[in-house]
Amino acid sequence: MAGEFGRHFFRVVCAVIFISSLFLLRVHAQRNNPAAKARPAQTKPQNNRVGDQACASCHSEKVNSYLQTSHHLTSSLPSKTSIHGSFAPGANEFHTSNRYLYYSMQATPRGFFQSAVEQLSQSKTLAHTERIDLVIGSGRKGQTYLFWKGDRLFELPVSYKTELNAWINSPGYPDGSPRFDRPVKPRCLECHSTSFEAVPDSGNQYRKPGIVLGIACEKCHGPGGLHTKNRKAKKDTSTDAAKDIINPASLPRDRQIDTCALCHAGAGKPIAPALSFVPGDVLAENVFIPDPGPNAEVDVHGNQFQLLERSRCFKSSRMTCTTCHDVHKPQRDAVAFSQNCLTCHKAETHLQVNADITNNCVDCHMPLQESQVLFSDNNGRKFKPLVRNHRIAIYNVP
Ligand code: HEC
Ligand code: HEC
Ligand code: HEC
Ligand code: HEC
Ligand code: HEC
Ligand code: HEC
Ligand code: HEC
Repeated sequence: MAGEFGRHFFRVVCAVIFISSLFLLRVHAQRNNPAAKARPAQTKPQNNRVGDQACASCHSEKVNSYLQTSHHLTSSLPSKTSIHGSFAPGANEFHTSNRYLYYSMQATPRGFFQSAVEQLSQSKTLAHTERIDLVIGSGRKGQTYLFWKGDRLFELPVSYKTELNAWINSPGYPDGSPRFDRPVKPRCLECHSTSFEAVPDSGNQYRKPGIVLGIACEKCHGPGGLHTKNRKAKKDTSTDAAKDIINPASLPRDRQIDTCALCHAGAGKPIAPALSFVPGDVLAENVFIPDPGPNAEVDVHGNQFQLLERSRCFKSSRMTCTTCHDVHKPQRDAVAFSQNCLTCHKAETHLQVNADITNNCVDCHMPLQESQVLFSDNNGRKFKPLVRNHRIAIYNVP
């Protein structure tokens, strides 16, 4: 996973350099956007955020299934269930390439902790301990843990890798040196949480109580205060002008894609402060996503937008991410996605048609491929997890 986080780290570094240069230039993002008409009520001051539970009384089915998704679970407070790494004696240690340094993970009544234990001499050890304050990652592939030092947020040196069911060295930290100094920047929380109050220009200072963990309904639907109030009062919202909540399905196609690309097109280079983007906005005015060019290699991890964009399916149709994904529930059966292909294609387009072809379109046309950036070193072996390639095409699949 070092690669994945190395990449996150690189993105964050780019972001910092970019933001600082922008502050010097005093450039302000243009906020007049053509899609604003699609969300008239959103700018009203009384339209506040109300949280997922406020939606449950009327959309209970959506809320209940959404609570199982990795979007909802992507950040959380530490607990025995939210932390996937083991605290059992023996399994709670992580040894580094430096034989005088190991890490130890402890679950105590006071909380969960990571310690770096250095052997200074035969009889002397030095331990540095920090508390696990936040958990990032639902654990599909892994998790990283964060800690508070006052109101500053930092990454802990030991992460968890699901594929190995083991503790690993955290991305961005050199293996074998006991460090706890990687700051956590707002863009990280923009992709992995709902909202937070960052102290401007501080890098990693936050108002602690302001953090809303997990990705909430309102991340994609905008603030729901007015909608909740109106619907409870049974107010007529049938006219366009009375629309009180964003339904991404009624946005122009590019704005629908932007709603997902905010987090699924790499970190890019932030132009506006984190959390400026609201679905319906033009993403390019908030985050600069570099175009890698048609022939550049794009890694299968984290770049679903760039890859899908290169597909003939995408270019020749009105396809969006939600053509295949219903983000309101967990979808873990890749074969079932074939039904989506058949809304536009017929299996009969093949020269030869047989059961193998009609049943599973995606394993041939969206093959699982090794990510070159999302890997981890563990005892000298490189692990490269398989990720679904979103460039739909004809591949040489054995
Ligand atoms: C008091 C009941 C109530 C509450 C609370 C409520 N909704 Fe709704 N919502 C409705 C009704 C009624 C509709 C219209 C019928 C439908 O589409 O299901 C609707 C429609 C929607 C739509 C589609 C709007 C459109 O114009 O196409 C979205 C999106 C939505 N709700 C999201 C939410 C979210 C997010 C929350 C929580 C922040 C929420 N709702 C809370 C009752 C409610
Ligand atoms: C541009 C948005 C973005 C930023 C910035 C970002 N991430 Fe991610 N992260 C993602 C997405 C999207 C995935 C899932 C991608 C995939 O599997 O292709 C992910 C995956 C992960 C995972 C694995 C989750 C799992 O359950 O398997 C962890 C852990 C993680 N990120 C931690 C971090 C940390 C820590 C930071 C900041 C220091 C960070 N990320 C910055 C979007 C982002
Ligand atoms: C990751 C983004 C995302 C999140 C999070 C999200 N939605 Fe949606 N929602 C969408 C999109 C996209 C659509 C439009 C789907 C389509 O294209 O048909 C939608 C449509 C809807 C609709 C109207 C269409 C319908 O199926 O009735 C409702 C109601 C709704 N969402 C409620 C919720 C609630 C409640 C939550 C939280 C439990 C939630 N959404 C979380 C993206 C999201
Ligand atoms: C605020 C950032 C954000 C937005 C907006 C967002 N995602 Fe994600 N998405 C993530 C992160 C982070 C993960 C990895 C979560 C984890 O496992 O911890 C993820 C995971 C996923 C997954 C894998 C789910 C699984 O359980 O296998 C799918 C599919 C996905 N997103 C689709 C979408 C679609 C479609 C949209 C737009 C409607 C969207 N996302 C919008 C951040 C986001
Ligand atoms: C929204 C409609 C739509 C959906 C859904 C869709 N496609 Fe396509 N696809 C198209 C169109 C349109 C073309 C281009 C046809 C042309 O140019 O002659 C295409 C082209 C293709 C091609 C030829 C690609 C190439 O590079 O030559 C393949 C293979 C393909 N689709 C497979 C799939 C598979 C597999 C799925 C499901 C995972 C899928 N499509 C989903 C519309 C769609
Ligand atoms: C033509 C259908 C289709 C479209 C369109 C599509 N996806 Fe997917 N996506 C899939 C399939 C199939 C999988 C594999 C699901 C599985 O293995 O359980 C997948 C998996 C994912 C995953 C998890 C990746 C992994 O391997 O861990 C993410 C994240 C994701 N999609 C995001 C997106 C985003 C963002 C968009 C829009 C830019 C999008 N998808 C558009 C079919 C599609
Ligand atoms: C065993 C692998 C495999 C499976 C499964 C498979 N395909 Fe294909 N597909 C191919 C290959 C190879 C080609 C190119 C040669 C050909 O046309 O037969 C192709 C070609 C295509 C084309 C382009 C045809 C053209 O006229 O250019 C489309 C569209 C397509 N497949 C859609 C699908 C859909 C939809 C499914 C699921 C119902 C599917 N495929 C299942 C391997 C597969």
